Amino acid sequence: MDIVFLGPPGAGKGTQAQRLAATLGIPQVSTGAILRRAVDEGSPMGRRAKSLMDAGQLVPDEILTELIRDALARPDAAHGVVFDGYPRNEAQAATLDRLLSNIERRIEAVVLVEAPDDVIVARLAGRRSCPRCGAVYHLEAAPPERQGKCDQCGGNLMQRDDDAPATIRERLEVYRKQTAGLEQRYAKSGLLLKVDASSGSPDEVFDLVREALDGRKKK
Ligand code: AP5
Repeated sequence: MDIVFLGPPGAGKGTQAQRLAATLGIPQVSTGAILRRAVDEGSPMGRRAKSLMDAGQLVPDEILTELIRDALARPDAAHGVVFDGYPRNEAQAATLDRLLSNIERRIEAVVLVEAPDDVIVARLAGRRSCPRCGAVYHLEAAPPERQGKCDQCGGNLMQRDDDAPATIRERLEVYRKQTAGLEQRYAKSGLLLKVDASSGSPDEVFDLVREALDGRKKK
């Protein structure tokens, strides 16, 4: 089962994609997380991506194509993938359709995680992540047991460079200009499922995600 999570920065795509991937037993492919790892490792891909990510801009499509092709070729992706943060424009959406069709698969659902700007800004300002294992926390909504330390691996929690207020504004703008149009594309093809993530805990929002996906199966 191949599922796409779409939505503005900070709405909670990663939080929900991680829960769904664990429930379905398939990998979560977070393009942002893969790119951040490449930046940390100082790989050629990471060096190309860093300044764009720090500015809140999209990384070139060809880098993402390579990354998604690699992710789909992994043995653990044989039964489906939860895409988190990809596609982000029309060209990427067309590429994803093509890459999946090459292996006789197709997107089965697109979950749009929605939240208003004031909620997004509060979520991103309070987000802390573990650079070692990728776990994500929130200072108020999902705090770690020990302040500043990852519950899962004990790593030191960090604030993402692109969660600075000016970069958040830019990322929201980039989402509106380049990504939001995908809603129409997926609504037209009957794949779009909207989930209101503006209130409720991550677990409560996950109940809505599951209800939306289950409702689709019954239709
Ligand atoms: P990426 O990492 O994908 O960032 P994003 O899309 O901006 O999304 P975020 O990860 O910031 O937010 P999220 O919606 O996943 O929220 P989260 O679950 O963490 O991309 C980063 C950059 O990489 C891009 O700007 C671009 O440069 C590049 N890039 C990536 N993909 C690309 C692509 N396809 N093409 C080109 N460039 C690409 O939640 C946020 C916080 O809220 C957390 O603290 C969480 O604990 C908390 N939270 C979540 N849900 C709730 C809730 N229900 N209640 C309270 N708190 C909550």
